[in-house]
Order: sequence, then C-alpha cells, then structure tokens
Amino acid sequence: MKARHDHRDPVSLLYIRRITVLEIYDLKTEYRKDPIGIDVKKPAFSWKLRSDLNDVIQKGYRIQVKEGDRLVYDSDQLSEKQSLYHTYEGETLKPRTRYEVSVDVIDTHDETAHADAFFETGLMSVENFKADFITHGFEDDMEACALFSRTFKINKPIAKARIYASALGVYKLELNGNRVGTMRFAPGWTSYQDRLQYQTYDVTESLKEDNTIYATVANGWYKGILGFYGQGNHYGKRTAIFFQMEIDYEDGTNETICSDESWTSSTGPHRYSELYHGEVIDFSLDEFETRGVSVIDYPKQNLVSQISEPIRITQRLKVKHMFTAPNGEIILDFGQNASAVVEARLKQPKGTKVVLRHGEDLDENGNLFTENLRTAKATDTFICSGNEDVFLPEFTSHGFRYVSIEGLKEVDPDDFTACVQHTDFDRINSFSCDNPNVDQLWKNIDWTMRSNYFDIPMDCPQRDERLGYTGDTQIFLPTALFHGDLALFFRKWLYDLQSEQSDEFGVPLTVPDILRTRTCVSIWHDAATIVPWLIYQTYGDRRVLEEQFDSMVSCVEYSRRLAGKDGLLQIENSSQFGDWVAIDAPKGPYRPSPKGVFLHPSMDEKAGGTDSHLIGNAYYLYSLDILAKTAKILRKENEAHTYSELYQDVLKKFRDEYITANGRLLSETQTAAALVLYFDLAEEKDRTRILNKLILNLVKTQKHLRTGFVGTEYLPHVLSRFDQHQLVGDILMKDDCPSWLYAVKLGATTVWELWDGVNEDHSYNMFSMNSLNQYGFATIGNWLVKDLAGISSLEPGYVRSRIAPRLVSGITEVQASYETPYGKLSCRTACRNGRYQIDISIPANTEAVIELPGKEKMISGSGTYHFEYETTDSFEEKPYSQDSILNDILKDPVAKRYFEEKEPELSRNPMIRNFAGRLSISEIKMTLPKTMVPERAYQIFDDMIRLLNDGN
Ligand code: BGC
Repeated sequence: MKARHDHRDPVSLLYIRRITVLEIYDLKTEYRKDPIGIDVKKPAFSWKLRSDLNDVIQKGYRIQVKEGDRLVYDSDQLSEKQSLYHTYEGETLKPRTRYEVSVDVIDTHDETAHADAFFETGLMSVENFKADFITHGFEDDMEACALFSRTFKINKPIAKARIYASALGVYKLELNGNRVGTMRFAPGWTSYQDRLQYQTYDVTESLKEDNTIYATVANGWYKGILGFYGQGNHYGKRTAIFFQMEIDYEDGTNETICSDESWTSSTGPHRYSELYHGEVIDFSLDEFETRGVSVIDYPKQNLVSQISEPIRITQRLKVKHMFTAPNGEIILDFGQNASAVVEARLKQPKGTKVVLRHGEDLDENGNLFTENLRTAKATDTFICSGNEDVFLPEFTSHGFRYVSIEGLKEVDPDDFTACVQHTDFDRINSFSCDNPNVDQLWKNIDWTMRSNYFDIPMDCPQRDERLGYTGDTQIFLPTALFHGDLALFFRKWLYDLQSEQSDEFGVPLTVPDILRTRTCVSIWHDAATIVPWLIYQTYGDRRVLEEQFDSMVSCVEYSRRLAGKDGLLQIENSSQFGDWVAIDAPKGPYRPSPKGVFLHPSMDEKAGGTDSHLIGNAYYLYSLDILAKTAKILRKENEAHTYSELYQDVLKKFRDEYITANGRLLSETQTAAALVLYFDLAEEKDRTRILNKLILNLVKTQKHLRTGFVGTEYLPHVLSRFDQHQLVGDILMKDDCPSWLYAVKLGATTVWELWDGVNEDHSYNMFSMNSLNQYGFATIGNWLVKDLAGISSLEPGYVRSRIAPRLVSGITEVQASYETPYGKLSCRTACRNGRYQIDISIPANTEAVIELPGKEKMISGSGTYHFEYETTDSFEEKPYSQDSILNDILKDPVAKRYFEEKEPELSRNPMIRNFAGRLSISEIKMTLPKTMVPERAYQIFDDMIRLLNDGN
C-alpha cells in the first residue's frame, strides 16, 4: 500500500509544512567536504537534499568540474535520482591541483538548488614523491624520540604551500614553533609492509621569511612494543621521516623542500614513548646532541594518501573527584573510562618529577587497579623546567578513568585535564530513552566505540593488546555504524585486510597483522565478507564490493578448501574459537579464582558451550550467502551461480549434521539456536521447535544470557523477529550478573569484555583477559536502534528504510536519529496514558516503510510526520510479571484469596508451596508437566499478576 497523508485515518496525522526552497547540503568528494590531498583518480561526488516539502525526489541533476575557469568535466543534464557517488569521468586529474565542483538539481516539485565545493588532489603517483625517507644519526635502540629539523628562507610572495609528510613511526610537525595540523598519531596504522599513508597540510599562512621545521618521530606502531610478548621492531628497526613541502609562488614559480641529507637529527623533551607503556617528557634538559641524518630505504610506491578521518583530541574532561586511596596514593577521578592522555599544567622547581599511573577502575579496597593492563605500564612521567610547563603526551594513549599522581607536594586537580583521543569520525547520530539505565548503557556503548576506534578498530584501549581483531570488528560493526560515519574508516581498514589476507593462511586474527599467528578461525576470518557487505548496505557505495570482491572470494575459497570433500568445517580440518567468552562452557571462564591470582583459561573455557564448528559452519554459510549476493550485484553471473549452488550444498550438509530429522538442534545452547534462526539455517518446519527450546532455555536461566559475543549479537534480533520482543525487554532490564545493566549498576561507564568482569563487592574476576572497555557485548546497540527505536535500512544506503518502533516494559519513550547518506532518518515514540505519539523524519530522495504498533503497514516519501492515536498498550514498569516467583505473588493476601477461591484443591497441594511456588510463572508454564500444574491454572496466575499490578 502506498500511503498518502490524507489516506491515513484512523491514524491521526499532523502534516507540518514551512515555506522553503530546496537546498543541497553536504556536497562531498570521496565522503569529505572540500578535501585536500586526495589521490583517487576518479573521485565520486555525493550530496544531500533538504526541503520542507514532503515526498521530495530528485528528478535530474548536472555536475560540472572546473580547473580554474576551464571546464574539465560536465555530466550534462541527467534525468536521474542518483545523488550518491557520481563518478568523475572528465580529463585526467593533475596532481596538486584544485578543482571546483558545482551541482545543480531539480526535484519532483520542480524546485531547483545549486551548490559549490572543491577538492584538491595530492601527489597522486610515485614519480611525484621527490623527498627521501631520512633516519636519525643515533643508535637503533635509542629511547628518546628522534627530532629532525631544517631551516629555510622564503623571499617571494606565496600563492600556496603544502606539506606532504609521512614517517616510519608516528610523527608530529612544528613549523615556526606551531604545530602543523590537528592530527595525532600520523601517519596512522596501516599494513606498513604494503601501505603507508602520507598526510597533506595547508601551510600557506604559516610561512615567513625565516622558517624552521621540526619533526618529532616516536616508535609508534612501526617500531614500538606491540603484542603480548613485549616485542618491538615489527616493521623495522629505525624511525624515519618523509617530508615534502611544495611552495607555489605568486610569480608562477615553484620550490620543493624535501627531507634529505641536509637535515639534522637530535632529540628533544620526548625522552621515551611507547603506546602501551607511556611517555617521559623532560622540560628540564637544556642541551641536546645533534647528529646528521641518512637516507633509509622504504619503497615509495607504498605511499598512499590518508583516507580516513584522523585521530584527534575530541573532548577534554575535568577532574570530577580527587581523593587519597587507602594505600596513600593521590587519585584523580575523571568520571569516565576512555582512551585519553592527561595534560598537566605545572609550575614546579626545575627537575621535579611527576609520575602519572593510569587505571580503569579501583579495586575492592579503593586503590588504583592496574592488574588487568597486564604488561602495559600506562605510566607518564613529566619533569619540570622551573617555568610554567604544559605537558601533553603526544605518542601514547591510555585506557583509564583514574590516575594516581606521585611527586607533587600538593595536587591541584585543576592542573590536570584528560584529553580524550580517538578517530574523529562524525558523530551526528543519537539515541535516548526514558529508562536511565538503558540510556547509560547506550552512552557506555558510545564511549566503548570511541575508545577503541583508534585509527583501526581495536579490541581494547588499555592492556598490552590494542589490536585490530577481525572477529570483534565484524560483530560490533552493525552497532558501530549507528554511532558514527565510518565509510572511510573501514575503507582504509579493508585495504589493510586485503593486504594481510592470503590464499594460504586466510584472514588473520588481527589487521594490521603483527601477531602473525597464521591462525585462521571462522568469525574472525569472515570479516573479509561481512565488513564490506555491511558497509555497502549502510552507504550504498558499490565500489566497496568491487574493491573487496577478490578478498571475499579468497575468504570463502579458504573455508571451502578447509572443509574439503566433506563440505563442512570439522575438528579435524579447522580450529575455532567458538562463542568467544560465553559463560556456558562446561568449565566456563567463570570458575572462582584464588584472590589475587590471575587465571589463564584454556581455549575451551573461553569458547563457551556451543559446538564451535556449528558456529564456524554457520559463518561459512553466512560468508557464502554474502558472496553469492555480491556476485549478483556486480553482475558476475558465473560466480553468483557457483556460490549460490555451493551455499545450498553446504546448507544441506549443515542440516544433516546439526539438526535431527525431527527438528532438534544438536547443540542446544542459546547461541546455537540464535544463529540457526537468525541465518535461516533450519527448515521452516523445524523453526518453532528450535525457537521454543531457546525460550525454554532463557526461562531456565531466569532470562539471562549465557552467550558469548557471537550469540549476544543475534539472539535479541531473533526473539524480536519471532514475536518475542518483550522477552528481549525482560532480558535487557535484568541488572544481576550476567546482564548488560549489571555493569551499569556497578557504575561502569564503558562496556566490559566479560559479563562478570567485576564482582558485586567490586573485586575483580581475575581472568587474564578482563578489559572494562571492549565492544564484544556492546552489540545490543544494534537492537536498541533497529528493534526498539525502530529505524533500519531496507535497501543499500537507506534509499528505502524501515520505521518500526516497538517499546518494551520499562521504556515508555525512545528516540533515535541517524544521518543516512541521504540525510536524517529519525523516529521518536512515546506511549503514555493509553496514547501513542510518534514523530518521524524521512530524508529527501528516499522512502520508508512505516510499521507503527497496532497499525497497518504504509509506505511514505520524505518529510516529517507526527502520528497520535489511542492504544491499549502500556509499557510502564509493573511490580509483577511472568518473571515473578509464585510464592512471592502468593504473599499478597488478595492474590492468595483469589487463588484459593479459583483453585481450592491446587492451592492446598503442598507441591505448590514447596516446589512450583519457588519457580517464576514462566518457569512453571514452560518447565513443569501439565499433570503437576494444569494448564487452566495459567490463566489464574495471569489474573493474579494483573490484579496485583492494576487492581482489577
Ligand atoms: C581479544 C579479543 C579477541 C581475542 C582473540 C583477545 O585477547 O581482546 O577480543 O578477539 O583475543 O584471540
């Protein structure tokens, strides 16, 4: 049904309209506004439309690109609705050149709009990299950061000046005493053996007659300590800088200043810096030895222009609370666990040494807890000059909320600021609801993502790991996509995935791969198909599928080879990590540990209780399905056919292996059922049995998850899809362990790696892997937006979306807003006093399928809409529910009397008080034989609950 506003009765609808014109906004080149330094040969342009009229569709458009006054590309007038990724098809783009872009559109209301933008190309090809990589004149194992410098003169008026820079290590540039750009940790982390990013900076306004350039280079990911065994030099033994400044003078001449043997090297105040261990900044030193530099060999063809958003300081947090811990340490509490460094402003006698140790939490005694950092020292040391000093660690990062300070007689908390740092992607989306705990959960998810999206998608921000685990990345991606604009972040990461992947070893556990374990396990491995697929679904840019297609094929072929002629992954042919950190393993990672002793659990304990090859094969099928669909989209008919057939073949084998003829699942865990139902792996006839078993399982655990990070993502969606939406609500509202709100109850400000990372008494689960800031269990964010607030995409890029809000008990109002590639999609739903109030906004050039509670499905074009209507639905939290224990209900005299009246015999049966009475109503219904508690009593129980909640 195609709905029109005036046809929508009985839903009452207010149609909001203001007088306006059509407007183009966010005209971007390669996802960026007015970028400089792009190296894409045929960049793509996208724009969004805004109009206060409803049902706006773009009818036609024209793009023109000029170099100066010269037209280099004209799309001509096109009668199309495409407003995303129009590819440049003009003259070959020149390096270091500015191009002006203009777009004109007309919509179906015959409104027109115009917008201008520009982009500037980078160095574009290897022959334009004139500079050399130069290394310092000190020993390989020098601890201090190298400081490269050179001076130069300018004696003509400048038209334009750009720096193109990169490093083996991480660098910071200073020109004439000022920091160049705002990026931290440049050049970012890529698979350096194949790809190294360079950055472009506009320094036209910063040059003078006499100029000095300084480049500080720290070990960073290139040479620094990374991984579990304290090893460094993963990519090379020596740090180096690459620097090329191109100055265009007003008189038309050009000068290039390059890193070469004319530079000098020295050291500066950064005496030590490692990502895990921290930084030493010494402002008391007056003299530094100077040495020469030498050219170092690094293949310049690996240089690529920076793709994604840089790491920046995005927020500054004041000290919330300062106190002396029982062990005498002075502790600063910043109130938020985050990836950050502390800036200190100090005026202390020369040589005063101030030591900051960082930790995520306090232990049960109230002292700083750092054991879960393992070997990461997370310690910064500042040595004062005697003047006013500003210390800000440059090349290290810590995951912390608390900091202990040593070395000051008196501590003024105002001297310390936590500078939050992570990839600075756009965060234009929002979610909120009227349940403060769920709201806090969302905030915790957001902070967890921000802490871990640190140029690569990391597993954790604090301990000696911080690696781009492929499994964690793919499982959290659907949630992450609601928190920020990640198209570029993942475009970059996928290039590295491709470069680390091989036909021989598959996709590694981490990308970039410094572990080189050569271990390939499902779920991690399958990131090669899942990540591009989800990125395509979100942004609608086919190029990600085109670029990643070979990688997807290689991923699937790898699994196919392992599976061999039997067709399935089996214990003999593949290793698996199962349902990572699930708590249903026979031994579980949750066995009690002697106080203060770290447990190093075996793989079996970490992998949960689900048959790990069932999970592996479900993922093999997931990858196969994605590949077949991708081949179809890319019109690769042969591959589409081959992989669809293979999918059917493997699916049959999967059913033969894991589902009995009568529809019983071989591994009857929550995760197995969730996976099989989510991916439609069971035959239709068997679904109900599997679903019922899943519900029974949840009833037996009093609605607590036993899942690891595989099951946790899928289970909520499965329940909502199969009419068990309120059951997800019940699970969500639990705040005892294991549950999402358990951590919230204990004051967590980020999501934990383990369900029971911290015990009720605030002591730690002494598991050697116990991060308090990890996104494996943060995947509920996906359900909160899609299934609760009710916004999701039906067609790639949200050109068609779905709006289907569904509240649960304890949440009477929820809103989510998401900046799709076309503009803002949002829905706010409130249900109070028997009335729904729903506000929706659908971006121009798209349409949405709207499914409001209790109403017929409708299809709507763009615009803002308000719906209001009566309902019998009620979501206020009630004291009694199906989860209430029968004996607790019977403590109320009203309920007791009702029960005795209606079921005199049953109510006197001692079995009720001593056995059934100890169970919840759902458990009685689902687990006890009807001969013990007859079905007719169920109605009585429901009546009692209603009587107690509503009084009638
Ligand atoms: C990480 C996990 C990761 C796992 C796989 C852990 O140490 O933190 O999230 O996926 O290792 O080996």
